[in-house]
Amino acid sequence: MANGIRQNAVNMTADEKQRFVSAMIAIKANGIYDGFVQTHIDQFNGLAHRGPTFLPWHRRYLLDLEQRLQAVDRTVNIPYWDWTTAGATSAVFAADLMGGNGASNNNWMVTTGPFAVNTGRWTLNIRSDSNTYLRRQFPLGTLPTAATVNGALAINTYDTAPWSPASSGSFRNAIENIHNGVHVWFGGTMAGAASPNDPLFFLHHCNIDRLWSQWQAARPTATYLPSGNTPGVTDVNEPMTPWPTTPAQMATHPSYVYG
Ligand code: CU
Ligand code: CU
Repeated sequence: MANGIRQNAVNMTADEKQRFVSAMIAIKANGIYDGFVQTHIDQFNGLAHRGPTFLPWHRRYLLDLEQRLQAVDRTVNIPYWDWTTAGATSAVFAADLMGGNGASNNNWMVTTGPFAVNTGRWTLNIRSDSNTYLRRQFPLGTLPTAATVNGALAINTYDTAPWSPASSGSFRNAIENIHNGVHVWFGGTMAGAASPNDPLFFLHHCNIDRLWSQWQAARPTATYLPSGNTPGVTDVNEPMTPWPTTPAQMATHPSYVYG
């Protein structure tokens, strides 16, 4: 039983893996999952990335998906993939969880695991390219190290002007850049606007959310920024499209316990 804890994917039992995979396949079959992919495409160049809402936007997104999974099986929580310790050869990529790399002789099509197109259960319907199947082309470059992550966690300020990829001294920008590198490392489906088509997206972002939670726990008085009215930037009390949810609501959300 998951017991409400978002745990490290490498520590999942066989039963927990099976329940998580089954719940994902259930919400794929009824169209709910594809709606999540569309939401991400719609906000790819909007509030989801390249600015302060990167963390609260994806927190809300994860919570929504998790709620849908729990409607199928209330024991399920999204596990996290800690890419600093669990690389390409880890249990995360085994056939009973996420499946493996794509086939180099077949346009990097994923052919193993529960999300391979040949299972008949994971056709990509909502796309940003023409490929109707999951693709992975790792490793492209290297995964972030623990030292790099610790460097980001040591930054005290949530975000700084100009609230963009150009922000320096910004925890948000440092962690977003680390996150970008993981998407790049995968290539294939994970490299594009429709990256949530790969279920690994959610394990990756669960780890990013865990790091934000750690940063928050270490700084009880640190807040989301910008706090005041800043033209062109979503401040702490403004809604994040497509939801009425504000960054403040996500920053103070009694977020999941990470195991
Ligand atoms: Cu995203
Ligand atoms: Cu991402």
